[in-house]
Amino acid sequence: MKIKFRISRSGPVGKGGEPHFQAYDVEVSEGMTVLEALLKIADEEDPTFVFRKSCRSAICGSCAMTINGFSRLACATQIIPEYEKMGEMVLEPLKNHSVQKDLVVDFNPFWKKIERITPYLTPTEESIGEAVTKKDEAAIDASQRCIMCGCCNSECNTLEIDPRFIAPAALAKAWRFVGDVREGGQAKRLARLSEEHGIWDCVRCVHCTQYCPKDVSPLKEIELLRSAAMKKGVTDNRGARHVESMVESVKRVGRLDEASMTFRTLGFLRSLGMIPFGIRMEIHGKMPFPIIFPKIEKMEEIKTIFRELENSEEKEKK
Ligand code: SF4
Ligand code: SF4
Ligand code: FES
Repeated sequence: MKIKFRISRSGPVGKGGEPHFQAYDVEVSEGMTVLEALLKIADEEDPTFVFRKSCRSAICGSCAMTINGFSRLACATQIIPEYEKMGEMVLEPLKNHSVQKDLVVDFNPFWKKIERITPYLTPTEESIGEAVTKKDEAAIDASQRCIMCGCCNSECNTLEIDPRFIAPAALAKAWRFVGDVREGGQAKRLARLSEEHGIWDCVRCVHCTQYCPKDVSPLKEIELLRSAAMKKGVTDNRGARHVESMVESVKRVGRLDEASMTFRTLGFLRSLGMIPFGIRMEIHGKMPFPIIFPKIEKMEEIKTIFRELENSEEKEKK
């Protein structure tokens, strides 16, 4: 069976390398992967065509690319089921990365983000002696499965608009160290991660978790980092203030009081700049009228939930 592959080609712009799609007809067989098709094209048809690969077993992360619009590993994607599902085979480089040539992207920004999280243990004399139990190991197990393929960063909505965002791959790795009982510098790490372009800039679109080929679930690790930061008292930042004001609002009126949350999160002066936006929301019925803010019915039930939570936190502390 022959399948047409449309592959993004590019090279030095101005020297004939302007981005364009090139079509190749490839004879495919049952079980054949996208990577095998690429090797066939390079061997038999077009030796100028460039892509990355190494292990061919979904271990090294090198062959990540955009397949029919989604970030995937070429060596772990079988052609026939993919073609039957999508009706085409379109290959492009990873998104949110600059292209060097054809399907090869520049990974330097990716590694710089990993460097930013100090990707090694920094134990103290006391923490180094901690015995690691099965439960401790399980807490960081998922983050250790990362193969640094970049699929999560490629699909990240925040990274798309803010290249300085530390992004999901580095944050999943950060939890590997923050969550390790032998680590001694949690507080310092969490303070750094809570700065701008860090943990609080994630918009929870879930793409990183959805497209990770190794089930690392970066969003879950981001949530764990946020929770650990708040428990350590790293709350002097907009993200933590937003969470605190959200909890306060639900506790007080049983729902979100956007106006008061804005003031608590951004502070008085910055909130003034949000007033025109607030008025537009109000006009379009997107925000209950601030000031006269009705409590929900059955407020007692909300209060019971909070009481239960506070009791269980007390018990945990003991
Ligand atoms: S959940 Fe957060 S980190 Fe993950 S892709 Fe979305 S914005 Fe990026
Ligand atoms: S978290 Fe998943 S998608 Fe992201 S780099 Fe690691 S293995 Fe790849
Ligand atoms: S070639 Fe190593 S993950 Fe695909």
